[in-house]
Amino acid sequence: MNRLKIENVSLAYSNGHQALTDINLDISNGIFGLLGPNGAGKSSLMKTIVGLQKPTTGKLSFNGFDIVNNPLYIQKYLGFLPQDFGVYPNVSAFNLLDHIAKLKGVESKKQRHNQIMELLDKVNLTDFRNKEVHTFSGGMKQRFGVAQALLGDPKIVIVDEPTAGLDPEERNRFNNLLSNISEDIIIILSTHLVEDVRNLCSQMAIIKDGSIITQGSPKDFIEQLKGNLWIKAISKEDLPNEKTKHQVISTQLIQKVLHITVFAEDCPDGFTGIEPTLEHVYFKNL
Ligand SMILES: Nc1ncnc2c1ncn2[C@@H]1O[C@H](COP(=O)(O)OP(=O)(O)OP(=O)(O)O)[C@@H](O)[C@H]1O
Ligand SMILES: [Mg+2]
Repeated sequence: MNRLKIENVSLAYSNGHQALTDINLDISNGIFGLLGPNGAGKSSLMKTIVGLQKPTTGKLSFNGFDIVNNPLYIQKYLGFLPQDFGVYPNVSAFNLLDHIAKLKGVESKKQRHNQIMELLDKVNLTDFRNKEVHTFSGGMKQRFGVAQALLGDPKIVIVDEPTAGLDPEERNRFNNLLSNISEDIIIILSTHLVEDVRNLCSQMAIIKDGSIITQGSPKDFIEQLKGNLWIKAISKEDLPNEKTKHQVISTQLIQKVLHITVFAEDCPDGFTGIEPTLEHVYFKNL
């Protein structure tokens, strides 16, 4: 069992911006979802875990080893798919993967070849292996990024908004791939897509303004809202008034009609009960 421990981690950037405040997480094998809106601090936390930046204060350890002072310890076992990959060199997908596999310490040429061909197949890029990566479409680059993250049998894989830019079919394929490899390793998935967390993650945390708002299992969170969510169609003009009367969780258009969902112990007048979803959990915590 692998274990990543994050204790009292805070991070201030050099311009003074406080991106993370007192983060505590204890993560073991399986897929852990880090859910939060734009600017919440997801990428800041991921980059801190992989050692691209040091926290201002706090401790990080992987399998008991301090990785703030010894980032190489996690980097040896790490696959990382950053949100923004930057510029690709003018080399073919196969050759770039071969280069990365060498860096990750896969020494045998045959072993590298087998691993790369297997991964290219998994991410549906076999036919494009001799093409240069910088000529790939956004989705193909993303899939290439996944392949490089999985090279060298990592013990921990960190993927930052991996399905952004993928079409629905590729997003499914990607999610299946993640769930197939997650049994024996830690996968941390950062996303603002509630549905991906619901489908994939056994544990999750919601991050906002650099702080963890809540953490636990998606199933338990949903369970906790059971019997306390109520929905009603309203006209747009009534929204401010409803907001003063109820704890409004979300507003949405259903076939062009505005509906509000509220949190309450008992059913308020004119509302009907609805089954909670992880989306409700997310909105209630934001
Ligand atoms: N290098 C930096 N220097 C200063 N501030 C930064 C830096 N990188 C990020 N920030 C700020 O830190 C906050 C968190 O940014 P971060 O990229 O971690 O958010 P995020 O949750 O990944 O957002 P998104 O969903 O848009 O990717 C933002 O307010 C951002 O402007
Ligand atoms: Mg980000």
